[in-house]
Amino acid sequence: MSERRPRVLSGIQPSGNLHIGNYLGSLQNWVLEQDRYDNFFCIVDLHAITVPQDPAELRQHVRELAGLYLACGLDPQRSTIFVQSHVSAHAELGWVLNCQTPLGWLNRMTQFKDKSAKQETVLAGLLNYPTLMAADILLYDAEFVPVGDDQRQHIELTRDLAERFNYLYGETFVIPEPMIRTVAARVMGLDDPTSKMSKSNTAAGHAIPLLGDLKKTRKAIMRAVTDSGTEIAFDESRPGVYNLLSIYQKLTDKPREEIEAHFAGQGYGTLKRELADAVEATLEPIQARYREFTNDPAELDRLLAQGAERAAAVANATRDRAYTAVGLR
Ligand code: AMP
Ligand code: TRP
Repeated sequence: MSERRPRVLSGIQPSGNLHIGNYLGSLQNWVLEQDRYDNFFCIVDLHAITVPQDPAELRQHVRELAGLYLACGLDPQRSTIFVQSHVSAHAELGWVLNCQTPLGWLNRMTQFKDKSAKQETVLAGLLNYPTLMAADILLYDAEFVPVGDDQRQHIELTRDLAERFNYLYGETFVIPEPMIRTVAARVMGLDDPTSKMSKSNTAAGHAIPLLGDLKKTRKAIMRAVTDSGTEIAFDESRPGVYNLLSIYQKLTDKPREEIEAHFAGQGYGTLKRELADAVEATLEPIQARYREFTNDPAELDRLLAQGAERAAAVANATRDRAYTAVGLR
């Protein structure tokens, strides 16, 4: 029998403004471990419309994210890269799972509480967001879901839903596990190291954008909030310096002791300058590749169509299994 690699699925919303937190928390890990797994990476546009979107902008953001997936190193030969709405089984299984989800499970999701507090009108889709995410994962029999720390609760819900479904209707779904890297799992804002770096915060000086002007990024890093101390050490009680060091650690892949020894006796200015250098060294080639991939829209469309076809072959079979289990077929 040929060796079977474990299946991985993950996704990012095409909501624009991707930042280094998305890269270090998700994309980079996907790329580094691409050969160890059987990979499915999705652009979750159906999730994006759980809050109001401008249609033309949404279309643009989907292409932008596809270009970034490729520019960051996801390889269509080794990974299935596709757009969620191109594979109808996501919406279909999502509905079946909605009909299996106690309302209380959704009401207690912290991401729903955070996001709904920011909306004038809270749409039903925002509450049901986690059941669609469960469908994304369960459709591919994914064993692992590599994400940032903020997604842990959604994966717990996916497991609970899958277990409940299997108990009620017989073995249908594989129970997935979160795969959360400990270094830089939660990158904080440069302007406020107590709040997560976020796509929706577009204030200058908050994020390190993947596609942003690198000179502006350097300035933002040089102005990053630290503290009145001087010692450069991984000390969580000093969140500003801790955040800068964690980003540096993940970008350079060096052990903590070596980094602390390297910066011993130096000031925060040195740390910031070297961090800006490391950021530039990572983002410059990504931005160059991004321009190449997005310059050829026909080729990008061809890759996404091919990805959707491969994804649908797996997803449709699982949807059929679930439909049959509940008596729809
Ligand atoms: P989002 O920006 O919410 O669409 O998230 C896309 C992916 O990036 C998810 O896997 C998140 O867990 C991850 N992510 C988002 N923000 C951060 C952050 N500040 N630090 C680390 N990972 C993040
Ligand atoms: N909710 C995830 C986020 O905000 C995005 C997402 C949607 C996802 N479906 C997924 C992540 C399936 C992993 C697997 O980041």
